[in-house]
Amino acid sequence: MTDAKSQPQPPLGTHLRERRDLGPLADVVEAIATAGRGIAARIQRARLDDGDVIGEVGAINVQGEIQQKLDVLSDELVLASLQGCRSVAVYASEEQEEPVVLRPRSEGGMYAVLSDPLDGSSNIDVAVSVGTIFSVLPNDAPDDQTASAVLQAGSAQVAAGYVLYGSSVVLVLATAAGVDMYVLDPDRDEFMLVAEGLAMPTSKKLYAINEAYFEEFEPGLQAYLRYAHGNGYGLRYIGSMVADVHRTLLKGGVFVYPSTRKAPEGKLRLMYEGNPMAYVMVQAGGAGETGVGAILDVVPKALHERVPVIVGSSEEVAQVTRHLA
Ligand code: AHG
Ligand code: MN
Ligand code: MN
Repeated sequence: MTDAKSQPQPPLGTHLRERRDLGPLADVVEAIATAGRGIAARIQRARLDDGDVIGEVGAINVQGEIQQKLDVLSDELVLASLQGCRSVAVYASEEQEEPVVLRPRSEGGMYAVLSDPLDGSSNIDVAVSVGTIFSVLPNDAPDDQTASAVLQAGSAQVAAGYVLYGSSVVLVLATAAGVDMYVLDPDRDEFMLVAEGLAMPTSKKLYAINEAYFEEFEPGLQAYLRYAHGNGYGLRYIGSMVADVHRTLLKGGVFVYPSTRKAPEGKLRLMYEGNPMAYVMVQAGGAGETGVGAILDVVPKALHERVPVIVGSSEEVAQVTRHLA
């Protein structure tokens, strides 16, 4: 990893435009960053404003989960920002049943953008880190089938990443060229480059899993956890995937949301959570597995499908899958 602090730190927009490899993808990332700044500003005013962002809207989303006000607001901000981006063909979100078609390929719609606009929403009322996850796929669909561009395997992604609303606001961008990290400078209201070409640690004795579900896990995973207990592992679990993945990216270890007896496909969504986070990890030298193969190789059958997720340092992911096999 190159520490950008030894050199002048360019703002996100400048850095993206310096990169010849990105082309119109730069606008998509900037649109996500704009939405991220807006969401960050709203989160930081939680409980301060009338009708603020905390609380439920009284609706259930397509996943059967209670929508928080911030889930809906974040989805609106991401969509509004992408609508202003001429290269986005279609937007699909955890919070919306159907993809939103913006423009076909013949009118410049080059990309499908998928998002979990607010990940970890059960944590917002206690001021714990939450995030926005995004995945960008190429749109090669005929004009009358633009919506179908959202259904592609994760290996087709051209970019993915997240904005983490934590003790600082961090934007992580993964492309074929590698993984870069930006931090929101609150004085300038701009994301500044802080690290280029992140390479995650190959191993670290750290796991993140909701171990309260132990009795629901398959025997192989129970065996892994016993192995971890006996071999000096530490446990960290925030309960916001973005925050758990970000720690794993920087410090190493493994994040697991496995299949359980009640939920054989796990809880996390392939298109909005599994694919983008697996892409980030793989581009940083880590791995992303389902337990029976690579997450990025899963051919999606439905937009909102779920997938077991094992992401992190290559050696730690292998340690889990070895026990599952
Ligand atoms: P979301 O808020 O987008 O529905 O995602 C919540 C997810 C994820 O952030 C986290 O890893 C997981 O739920 C935590 O689930 P458990 O409470 O079952 O551990
Ligand atoms: Mn989520
Ligand atoms: Mn969400």
